[in-house]
Amino acid sequence: MIVIGGGIIGLTCAWRLSQAGREVEVYEAKKCGGEASWAAAGMLAPGGEMESRSPLGEMMLASLRQYPKYIQELQAESGRAIDYRQVGALEVAFDDAGAEELDRKATRQAGIGILSEPATHNGYYARFYPEDALVDPREIVAALLEALRRRGVAIREGSGAVSVWPDGSGFDTSKGGIRAEDGLLVAAGAWSGGLHAGLTPTFPVKGHLASWTFAPGLIGPILRNGHTYVMQRANGTVLAGSNEERAGFHRTVRKSAIEDLRKRAARLLPALADRAPEAEWTGFRPGIEADQPFIGRIPGTPAFGAFGHYRNGILLAPETGSRLMAALA
Ligand code: GLY
Repeated sequence: MIVIGGGIIGLTCAWRLSQAGREVEVYEAKKCGGEASWAAAGMLAPGGEMESRSPLGEMMLASLRQYPKYIQELQAESGRAIDYRQVGALEVAFDDAGAEELDRKATRQAGIGILSEPATHNGYYARFYPEDALVDPREIVAALLEALRRRGVAIREGSGAVSVWPDGSGFDTSKGGIRAEDGLLVAAGAWSGGLHAGLTPTFPVKGHLASWTFAPGLIGPILRNGHTYVMQRANGTVLAGSNEERAGFHRTVRKSAIEDLRKRAARLLPALADRAPEAEWTGFRPGIEADQPFIGRIPGTPAFGAFGHYRNGILLAPETGSRLMAALA
C-alpha cells in the first residue's frame, strides 16, 4: 500500500500496515514529520479538550488508553527512547467564575469517564487530571522512521502527491504519475482534502508555540488555562502554546502572537514573565469540515484516507492506526 503523507498519522498507519504483512511505501512532500508533527507540543490531554460525550471524545479516550502499549512497542521495535510520561494536567482558574466553571466541567466530564480532583496551583484553584500525559512527538516520528527502516519500508521524501486520480488507483506527483497497485492511503494532514474531489475538505489552523530551556523537573504536570498550556520535556525544555488562526498556509511567526502567548503562559508559570523565548514557531493543525477525523474509504474508490485530526493528531495516532486496520479488514 502507498501512504501519502509522512507525519505521525501516515507513519503510524504505515507501521501498522507493515506489521500486518503489507508492502508499504511512504510518499512525503518534504521531510517526514516536518509539519504538524514537528510543531506539536505533545499533550495527551482529553481533560482539557473535551467535556461531553461525542464520537471524537470516545476516540480520544480510546487512543489515550492505547498510548502506553504504542510507546512500549515502538521503543522496542526502533531501539529509540521516547519521552512519554503520565504526568497529569492541572487546569488552573484565575478567578471565582473560572473556578466554578471548572467544577461544572468536571461534573460533566465525570459522566463520560474523565477523572479530575480539586487542587491548587500558585494559590489559584485548579483541577488535576491524573490520566493526562505528555510525549515528545519528534521522538515518536524518529522512532517510527527507524521502525519502518528496519522493516524495509521505502520512505520517499521530497515526493508529494499533487492529486489522487479520480478512480483512486494512483496519484500524480510533480514528477509524474504513480499507480498504487496494492492500495492507497491519503494521510496528508491539512493538505489531504485538496487531493481528491471525494474527500472531506481540510484547512490549516495555524498555531504559535515557543520554548525556553530550564533545569529538568521545574514543572511536573502540564499546566493549562483553556487553550493556553505550558509543559516541560524530560530534557528541561519548557514549551508553551498556543493560539488559533485561520489564515491559510502562512508560516510567518508574528511577534505580537508570541508576546501574547508568553504573557498568558507566564500566568501559569511566572518564570516566563521576564524571559524571551529561545525558539518560536508555527504549525498547521489539520482542520477538517467535520467534527471528527476522516478514517475510511474515499467514496466511490478503492483508496483510503486518515486525516483531519485538528488539535489532537498526536493523541489520536494509535487509535487511528487501529481504526484504519479495522477498516481494511
Ligand atoms: N492540542 C493543542 C493544540 O492544538 O494547540
